[in-house]
Amino acid sequence: MIRALQPGDDVLYPEFHSHVSGSDRRLRFFSAAPLSERQIFRLTRYDPREAVVRAAVGIDCGELYGVGRLHRIQGRQGEFAVMVRSDLKGQGLGGLLLRQVIERAPSIGVTEVVGLVLPENTGMRALAEELGFAIAPDPEESGLLRASLDLEPPDHRRAA
Ligand SMILES: CC(C)(COP(=O)(O)OP(=O)(O)OC[C@H]1O[C@@H](n2cnc3c(N)ncnc32)[C@H](O)[C@@H]1OP(=O)(O)O)[C@@H](O)C(=O)NCCC(=O)NCCS
Repeated sequence: MIRALQPGDDVLYPEFHSHVSGSDRRLRFFSAAPLSERQIFRLTRYDPREAVVRAAVGIDCGELYGVGRLHRIQGRQGEFAVMVRSDLKGQGLGGLLLRQVIERAPSIGVTEVVGLVLPENTGMRALAEELGFAIAPDPEESGLLRASLDLEPPDHRRAA
């Protein structure tokens, strides 16, 4: 089941992260260190007017399998992040979560979706390319790639 992440979902994070490898944590958070309680608290508390956060949850067990998020960062630009349990990768969950947050981007006023990706993150790069993102070196953070997807049709941009 895919649903909005809820504040009470912080209790699901320790089990979720026990199935995430250090290298996958590094690809997502740029650090392999386990998340602190404070970080988990912050990840599960967000303003729904500013962010879309979708959680994949096992129907029978209630376990968290993956999370896709999009936070408005400035103007009409939003930053995405996605992570799936290491033992559940390659089954379509990451793509599903990312598609859902992109579909809901306009509901928080976001028309350009961006994300920072480590160059060695071949899985995320392939997924982003499949969804139509352009990938280029990040102009601000050296050594990182920036994936960006413009959701506004060109006609609309010309009219604005
Ligand atoms: C990146 C990540 C979210 C992808 O999730 P996933 O559930 O494994 O991806 P999916 O199964 O939905 O794959 C979707 C597509 O992505 C591509 N892809 C995903 N992993 C890939 C890999 N390791 N190598 C090549 N392509 C890959 C494929 O094109 C795939 O399409 P297909 O189903 O037609 O083969 C997941 O690997 C992950 O959590 N990685 C660690 C954290 C991370 O890197 N987050 C991104 C930083 S923002």
